[in-house]
Amino acid sequence: MKRSIRDLDLGGKRVFLRVDFNLPLTAKGELSDDTRIWRTMPTIEFALSRGASVILASHFGRPKREPGRRLSLRPVAERLEELLGKRVAFAPDCVGEDTQRMARALRPGEVLMLENLRFHAGERKNDENFARSLAALADVYVNDAFGTAHRAHASIEAIARLMPAAMGLLMEKEILYLEKILERPEHPFVAVIGGAKLETKVDVLKNLTERADAVLIGGAMSYTFFKSQGIAVGTTPVEDALLGTAAEIYAGAKEGEKLLLPVDHVTAPEPRPGVPVRHLSVDTIDPSWCGVDVGPKTIELYRSRLLKAKTVFWNGPLGIIEMPPFDEGTNAVARAIAEAEAVKIAGGGETLATISALGLQEKFSHLSTGGGASLAFMAGEKFPTLAALPDT
Ligand code: 3PG
Repeated sequence: MKRSIRDLDLGGKRVFLRVDFNLPLTAKGELSDDTRIWRTMPTIEFALSRGASVILASHFGRPKREPGRRLSLRPVAERLEELLGKRVAFAPDCVGEDTQRMARALRPGEVLMLENLRFHAGERKNDENFARSLAALADVYVNDAFGTAHRAHASIEAIARLMPAAMGLLMEKEILYLEKILERPEHPFVAVIGGAKLETKVDVLKNLTERADAVLIGGAMSYTFFKSQGIAVGTTPVEDALLGTAAEIYAGAKEGEKLLLPVDHVTAPEPRPGVPVRHLSVDTIDPSWCGVDVGPKTIELYRSRLLKAKTVFWNGPLGIIEMPPFDEGTNAVARAIAEAEAVKIAGGGETLATISALGLQEKFSHLSTGGGASLAFMAGEKFPTLAALPDT
C-alpha cells in the first residue's frame, strides 16, 4: 500500500496538491463538465480541515499542440471557488518569484491555484530542476491526479522523490477499485470495450482477454476485426495497419469465445442524422454504406452476458453516440450494466457522458475520472505516480 494523505501530519503545512483539472471545453471554449473538480473536493477539504493550506497544480490541454486554444486555468480556479465556497487565489505562473511569494503568504485554510503546468516544457520532460522549483513552494506533496497518473511528468514523478509524498483520497479510491477488478475480480467478469480507435485499446484488449470471462466489442473498431476476418465493411473506417493485430487478438481470445463481436449492425449511406437505415447481420453491408451502431440482436446478446456478470468494466461507445438515434446500442448497454448486480466501473469521457445523460451515475460502483489512465491501468501498465510514492 502506498502512503495516503491520511498518514501525513498536515497541521500548519503547505500542501502541493497535484490534481487533474484538465476539464473538457465546449466548442465556444467554456468549461463543459466540472466532475473532476468536485471529485477532488474531499481531498482539498480533508487537507484544509487538518489545518493545512493548499496549493493546487494541474495541466490543462496540450499547449504546444493546441496553439489556438485558451489554455489558462484561471476559469477553472473560478469554478473551484464557486464549488468550494471560499476564496481561491490564482498565481499567473506555476513557478517564479511572484508565485513563491504567494505560496509563502498562505495561511492555514487558504487555497492557491497555479497556472497551467504545461506552459513549461520541463513538466512533460520530467525535468528535475522544474520539479525542484515546484517542490520549493510547499512542505508536502499529495498526488490526486488519477487522470494523469500514467504520465511520467515532473509534477507527478520527479517531485514525489523530493519531499514527503502521499496519494490523495480520489487517487486512493480509483486505485482501490481498479486494482480489485483487475487482480481479484468476482466472476463472471465482463468488459465492454468500444470506441472508434482500436489503436488506443490494443493493450487493454490483450490484458482483458486473459483476465475477463468475456470482452464485448463495439464501435468503429469492430470493423477492423471484421475486415481482418475477410468480412466486407462498406465505407466504415478501419485501421488497416492493425489488421494483423486484430486477427492476433481474436485468435488469442480463443477465436471469439472470450472476445465477442457484434452479430448485427445498423447501417446507413453516411454517418449523418436523419438518413435512412438498414438493420443487417454483420456479414452484410452495401459497399457504399457504413456501420453506425450495433443492432438489436447484439444488444440482446450483450445484455444477457452483462446481466449474469459479477464484475463489469466499461470504456467506449458502441455506436456514433453524438448522432442519435445511433446512440441506441450504447444507451441499451448502459442500462443493462446499470441493471446488473455486479461491481461496475466505467471510464472515458463519452462513456461517462452517456451514463450521466441517462441519469445512471448512482447505479455504478465507481466512475473513473481517468479515461486514458483507467485504460492504461486495466492494460496492466505500471504507473509512474505509484512507483514514485513511498509505501506506508
Ligand atoms: C486526460 O484528460 O486524459 C488527462 O488529463 C491526461 O491528459 P493527456 O493525455 O494530455 O496527458
